[in-house]
Amino acid sequence: MPLDHQTVLVRADYNVPLASDGSISDDLRIKANLPTLQYLLERGCKLVIISHLGRPEGKDKSLSLEPVAQRLAELLKRDIRFVDDTIGDKVYQAIKRAPKSSITVLENLRFYPEEEVDDHEFAQKIAKSTGANYFVQDGFGVVHRAHASTHAITLFIPSVAGLLLEREYDTITSAMEAPKRPLVAVMGGAKVSDKIAVIERFVKIADKIIIGGAMANTFLDYKGVSVGASKIESDQHEVLQRIYGAASKKAGNKVDDFIILPTDVAVAPSLSPDISRHVVALSNIKSDDIALDIGDESIERMVREVKSAGTVIWNGPLGYSELPAYAHGSARLALALAEQPETTSIIGGGDTADFVLKWDSNGGKSFTHVSTGGGASLELMAGDKLPGVESLLDARRQIEYTNSNKHK
Ligand code: 3PG
Repeated sequence: MPLDHQTVLVRADYNVPLASDGSISDDLRIKANLPTLQYLLERGCKLVIISHLGRPEGKDKSLSLEPVAQRLAELLKRDIRFVDDTIGDKVYQAIKRAPKSSITVLENLRFYPEEEVDDHEFAQKIAKSTGANYFVQDGFGVVHRAHASTHAITLFIPSVAGLLLEREYDTITSAMEAPKRPLVAVMGGAKVSDKIAVIERFVKIADKIIIGGAMANTFLDYKGVSVGASKIESDQHEVLQRIYGAASKKAGNKVDDFIILPTDVAVAPSLSPDISRHVVALSNIKSDDIALDIGDESIERMVREVKSAGTVIWNGPLGYSELPAYAHGSARLALALAEQPETTSIIGGGDTADFVLKWDSNGGKSFTHVSTGGGASLELMAGDKLPGVESLLDARRQIEYTNSNKHK
């Protein structure tokens, strides 16, 4: 597309975590969007950036994008204009006055309830107020939502994917569809119910599935292991029955070597930073014990599996990694992956990305890919269609159709 010197509307996902004083505690998502901005600036484009931040109810100053615009200015070492609205005359005038190769950030899209209901009129107002000639979707973390800025907007402005969206989509889909084998999936985090579709997909395509985190307790409970006072999801038995049914068809009597559960766990009577790590075999879990991490034997087993893997896809911390005593499983996995760069390592977004970025002094570069999308990366891994990607494909088909009719 002839983007040079055009006004380009960029949808980013600047939904960044904020500390209690309102400062940005992690700017991965802002940094990940920079290549797209730089590419467009080099072409003399006038850039207008839209994003959401948090889940405000109406206009909530504590969720303004102004601090994000300031961080962007620091990262790019250039002036960034900020407009405290998303549509209307103020936006129109500011963008009209903005020079080529400038960046204007607009206020939080979700200050307007129209955003989340995919309101076409709202999208049209964004298009008109910004006067954009092109729309670039680069907010990978939000393309699983059918909102005005991921769907309706593509009906009003010629639309393409940005470099981040393209990289996320290509890296994750190729690791799922044509992985370097063996493919080892590592699943952790709190709940089985959040990740059912992904686990079911891995049962089909992975060579091994390693389960850790609090979700392992639900698996162990299903297998008849007494997990003491650990949290379990007792309503997931049917789901696990289905998962094990499919896994048994694939792995026969080696199912426990295919879905690998912990054989020991680090336990404590409560969640407290003062308690030191105490590891027990599954048979020694007491009735008041809470399992907070995979144990040392389980860690060694996991590391062995990872060492022989061609691809590792990791979703969810393996323990309560906010406390160092229970971050051993996640830290050893991160180390194993960082030590073998020849293995493709894909780190799912959300808590897993937060963990590896804190752990990695190399800013995430120790891994093949650290995803900026939480829900979006899970849905993509599950094989779901993402509305924000589908609408770009529809927009492209529309352009191709129009062009082919022009030449008739
Ligand atoms: C995310 O953080 O997963 C995205 O920014 C989407 O945010 P949402 O879950 O509030 O829609």
